[in-house]
Amino acid sequence: MKIQNICCIGAGYVGGPTMAVIAKKCPDIKVTVVDINQERIAAWNDENVENIPVYEPGLSAVVAEARGRNLFFSTDVDKAIDEAEMIFISVNTPTKTYGEGKGQAADLKWIELCARQIARVAKGDKIVVEKSTLPVRTASTLKDILTHTGDGLSFQILSNPEFLAEGTAVEDLMDPDRVLIGGDQTPEGLKAIQALVDVYGRWVPRERILTTNVWSSELSKLTANAYLAQRVSSINSLSELCEFTEADINEVARAIGTDSRIGPKFLKASVGFGGSCFQKDILNLVYISRSYGLNEVADYWEQVIIMNDHQKRRFAKKIIKNLYNTVSGKKIAFLGWAFKKDTNDTRESAAIYVADHLLNEQSIIEIYDPKVKKQQVYTDLDYLGSRSSEENRKNASVGTDPYKVCEGSHAVAVLTEWDEFKSYDWQRIYDGMLKPAHVFDGRNILDKEALQSIGFQVHAIGTAD
Ligand code: UDX
Ligand code: UDX
Ligand code: ADP
Repeated sequence: MKIQNICCIGAGYVGGPTMAVIAKKCPDIKVTVVDINQERIAAWNDENVENIPVYEPGLSAVVAEARGRNLFFSTDVDKAIDEAEMIFISVNTPTKTYGEGKGQAADLKWIELCARQIARVAKGDKIVVEKSTLPVRTASTLKDILTHTGDGLSFQILSNPEFLAEGTAVEDLMDPDRVLIGGDQTPEGLKAIQALVDVYGRWVPRERILTTNVWSSELSKLTANAYLAQRVSSINSLSELCEFTEADINEVARAIGTDSRIGPKFLKASVGFGGSCFQKDILNLVYISRSYGLNEVADYWEQVIIMNDHQKRRFAKKIIKNLYNTVSGKKIAFLGWAFKKDTNDTRESAAIYVADHLLNEQSIIEIYDPKVKKQQVYTDLDYLGSRSSEENRKNASVGTDPYKVCEGSHAVAVLTEWDEFKSYDWQRIYDGMLKPAHVFDGRNILDKEALQSIGFQVHAIGTAD
């Protein structure tokens, strides 16, 4: 089967970049990305391509090339579903905030709505592709809804999890380590798998396209993220031990990373991992394991989250302790709010939790992030519900000039590893600060000795002060 029309439901961080790259690589396939959020679609269609709602290096060029040619953004979900032979579901699947599984299970409300909408609109057979991260066995829910409400049409459900990392999305999509496609091992299922293999096969070498059954594919996505997150929690747990001994976490990471069985990546100690996937996926894994009565499995993975929460809290506490156990009324400058560099995404960013802790201690926080807008910072703080939004606006502010943000502060805390922070004029920052001037480097990106020679008291992750 040759695919000529693709529809993607959900124009977010996953759907937008993924479809842009498919459209770029397959100029003969019409790709329509739809979303119920009108503002978001309008931003994707903005005449000035720099205003698209997702910031990713290289993305605006890809969108500029394909948009209007074979890449379209629209709010007309029904029309796009009707036209397409293949429909990607790329809507958000946040952790449930209510009811059974609250705080752990994924909320599949939006996925279910998509399935019902597809069933209602479809007039011909469709291949439905799960792109969002989903708990294992979601495909069977989708299939159930589609086959029981879909007017006798045939629906094939594929799992094609996304492994792109934010900040390198375009690179990861153009040259992926692998593409994973799971589907039913029946003749129709295998045909559907082949149709999607043929799409990716336009630019991804065939040996990098792995095909499995649906369940393996779904579980592999959760597992990949759990493993990656576990590496960060593991190195972070040892960073605390290093701070009490003469060991240096950077040296330890280098030493173990050269073991080819361990490998050098994902060993950067930090203030804690964030992002929309790691915590959600692990909580999902924990929830599923517990639902089968596998308590040891659940406890094992839950510890990764417990460690990460500890790391964020520990960073905030370290700031307080070094500012003589009180930060009440003291200004602390935050460099970075995004959950990692080169993205404007702030979901689950460690910065939010560190700020919350400090605001509870009545600190005054001023934030600078090169890509995150002021409104987003307030949305993140308000979402926690720790205090009124008036209080958040009174005690936390967002600046556009990093030097001004640092001026008059007792401490500068680095929360995101943006490259530009390394090249700041730190002497100038020091001159504008109250003394003793502290730097808390939550990402170990600054030159500790150079800062110390300026006069800063420097506190890094995983080295003794
Ligand atoms: C280990 C370290 O590998 C080595 O670097 C260190 O110097 C000493 O400890 P060793 O105990 O000899 O070496 O064997 P290793 O190959 O690491 O296996 C350890 C155990 O893990 C074995 O029981 C092995 O069967 C098991 N294992 C290993 C698995 O069950 N699965 C794996 O994928 C790898
Ligand atoms: C992750 C997976 O990498 C990607 O494959 C999946 O599709 C989605 O989830 P992402 O969340 O975009 O991608 O970013 P990632 O680079 O994995 O970083 C996640 C968090 O871990 C960030 O907060 C990052 O700062 C932190 N991290 C990462 C560390 O603290 N140390 C490291 O060594 C690596
Ligand atoms: P992700 O990181 O998984 O891409 P986002 O939250 O960035 O998550 O994007 C998901 C998008 O899906 C949002 O823009 C949201 O408006 C959209 N969405 C959710 N439900 C539906 C639906 N039923 N129909 C169309 N779009 C939807």
